[in-house]
Amino acid sequence: MTSAIKDLHQNVGKTVTLQGWLYHRRDSGKIAFLVIRDGTGLCQCVVTKNEQTEPFFETARRLGQESSLRVTGTVRADPKQVGGHELDVTGLEVIGESENFPITPKPHGIDFLMKNRHLHFRSRRQWHILRVRHTLIDEIRGYFNRNGYTLIDTPIFAPAAGEGSQTLFTVDYFGEPVYLAQTGQLYVEAACMAFGKVYCFGPTFRAEKSKTRRHLTEFWMVEPEIAYAELDDVVAVAEDFICSIVTRVLREHRADLEFLGRDIAALEKIQKPFNRVTHAEAADILRGPRAKELLERDLAAKTARIEEAKKLIAEKEAREKGAGVKQWERDKLVGEIHELREELADLEVEVQNIPHHIELAANFDPRGDLGGSDETIISRLHDRPVFVTHYPRECKAFYMKRSATDPSRVNNLDLLAPEGYGEIIGGSQREDDLAALLERIKEEGLNEEDYAWYLDLRRYGSVPHGGFGLGVERTLAWLCGLKHIRETIPFPRMMGRFYP
Ligand code: 4AD
Ligand code: MG
Repeated sequence: MTSAIKDLHQNVGKTVTLQGWLYHRRDSGKIAFLVIRDGTGLCQCVVTKNEQTEPFFETARRLGQESSLRVTGTVRADPKQVGGHELDVTGLEVIGESENFPITPKPHGIDFLMKNRHLHFRSRRQWHILRVRHTLIDEIRGYFNRNGYTLIDTPIFAPAAGEGSQTLFTVDYFGEPVYLAQTGQLYVEAACMAFGKVYCFGPTFRAEKSKTRRHLTEFWMVEPEIAYAELDDVVAVAEDFICSIVTRVLREHRADLEFLGRDIAALEKIQKPFNRVTHAEAADILRGPRAKELLERDLAAKTARIEEAKKLIAEKEAREKGAGVKQWERDKLVGEIHELREELADLEVEVQNIPHHIELAANFDPRGDLGGSDETIISRLHDRPVFVTHYPRECKAFYMKRSATDPSRVNNLDLLAPEGYGEIIGGSQREDDLAALLERIKEEGLNEEDYAWYLDLRRYGSVPHGGFGLGVERTLAWLCGLKHIRETIPFPRMMGRFYP
């Protein structure tokens, strides 16, 4: 009987066959330990040299990492082992050999790993992250389906810009230029006038010429759009939606998050109501003493950690080069030194940047957009997500509804995730007045003809409406506590990276 590793608890005492790949192997002459992964979990399989195992014992000792195998044996519960079970092996069948698998337990640089992404995501950390991604996406669909939204698929070939012309990818469409969609928003606006509450969910494209931790050129975005909704209605949906995502991920992925070293208590704090500040209030915070103090404390803490990391590296290097160190211990030290070096490199860049960030915040232009470091400051000063609303209209997209109380601002929302993760949601109430929208299209230098159909929505039964977009990868980076967005998508696309 075959069994998935995740189902072994139902089969204790029975003989089962696992179908998987060799994750790790060690042996001691008379006994071989094979850690098998099958996509559902890991299980240590123990091959003891005896009459029964004679025909395959030597094979087991020599198998290369990632060989594919069918392993038969008796299931034993063992809470000390990975996954909580162990298999006493009685049969072994090699399906596909694997020699010199490029990704070994030894440390590799990120470039190497990303070039080998097709193999890299077999490794444990990536497996945990992408499992959370699966649930995140399921909950995104589930939330809107449960709450009366109709799914509307929007086109990927777009005739005009949805989010600013600087980040458009142009495609040759039978001799005419079209663009890869930056957003499905304009189309869900049309759809909400037909269905009331709708959402689209798909890949979106931005020619982001920056190599940051937060930017991909291809990312997934869900965009709900609601007819008869104003800014506060949209804010309420965004808040409820985020809470349902966090609750579901905490319920189903505690073990994955623990493996990733996520601070789970911080996620448990995500409850309604979230914080709300206006852009003007955010500007005051950035220019005020709290922002400066926060960054100065950071600078001191990070400088101290640099010294500590340097000391630790020196100590470990001395130990590693010393006499009488066993091979496994040496490997462990080499791994730790590598990790410390990576941390040190990150810290050195951060420490270099902090004075610049202090300056940016202190001189924040009250009519300007929040930069990445500004978002980080605002989000770190709150332990729940923060809505920043009412941006100056010149730093936001043409379709946003002008604020009734201050026409120089718009009824928009950006949701900043806590712990410095920054914007994960951008949205707004939409300009539903034909004349005001036309004026903005002209102001932005956009071609009115391209938006003729969009303007029709304001001609035939226009109503207040609004929505938002949530980026899957930024949200996942926050949920899993990852420093960089590149690990949140199976095959990342970034400036200078599109292989494999
Ligand atoms: O704030 P953005 O640009 O908003 C829109 O596209 C609206 N049309 C959405 C709407 O109102 N229907 O993008 C929304 C979200 C961001 O908050 C971020 O999570 C994600 O999309 N995002 C990116 N994620 C990764 N890489 C990039 N280059 C991203 N650009 C935006
Ligand atoms: Mg935005």
